[in-house]
Amino acid sequence: MDWTDGEILRAMVCGVDKQGNALFPIMPYPNFGEMDEEDIMSIIAYIRTLAPKEYEPATSSSDFPMNFIINTIPSKPAFAPRPDPSDKVAQGKYLVNAGMCASCHTKSENGSVTGKPFSGGMEFPLEDGSIVRSANITPHSSGIGKWSTEQFVQKFTMFADSSYTAPKVGPGDFQTVMPWNTYAGMTESDLLAIYAYLQTLDPVEQVVERFTPAAGK
Ligand code: HEC
Repeated sequence: MDWTDGEILRAMVCGVDKQGNALFPIMPYPNFGEMDEEDIMSIIAYIRTLAPKEYEPATSSSDFPMNFIINTIPSKPAFAPRPDPSDKVAQGKYLVNAGMCASCHTKSENGSVTGKPFSGGMEFPLEDGSIVRSANITPHSSGIGKWSTEQFVQKFTMFADSSYTAPKVGPGDFQTVMPWNTYAGMTESDLLAIYAYLQTLDPVEQVVERFTPAAGK
């Protein structure tokens, strides 16, 4: 990658690539733009340690009117300092933004938000015709309202335990969409902060059907 750190930074937080083209916000630059600039610089330093691989993606394009609208989306970052770890709720909010929990746990259809924040129900159609839906993670009893802090932390950290073996998934069975492995390496203090922040959300009553098998299964 022959990009400078500044060019990577601009793509990550403003949504503008090396050539000056706008990136589609599926790339979560609005989230990254609210982080601490120092954290973004650490991510760039980490990316630079990865083994180089050759890959030439096809040029992306969009139809009218998106080919014009897309250029109006990039925005200036609103960097905010990483909160003091003693403020659990603020730290949890910071991590939930960086971890993009809302993008999957708030229902949206065709790019527009249609559900209440963090109340789940976003549909992930799988290739075999089954549908997985994100969970309600608000503090209502139909969400994670009955979960203890220990249960919450354990649900994440069990995936970091080397003795953990995932249950066998057969064709057509439920399989998780939640990136458990990606999040499993968080520290207990980070997970406690996320739990503390989620507890401050508006409790939304919504029972989500987690899985609908493909017809005929
Ligand atoms: C790529 C989409 C995606 C992202 C990002 C994501 N989740 Fe999830 N999550 C899901 C889906 C889908 C489920 C429910 C079904 C499953 O396991 O796939 C789920 C399940 C969960 C559950 C389990 C709830 C239950 O009832 O078992 C918790 C807790 C959770 N997510 C919290 C989080 C938090 C906190 C974050 C951010 C750090 C996050 N998720 C980010 C998709 C996502």
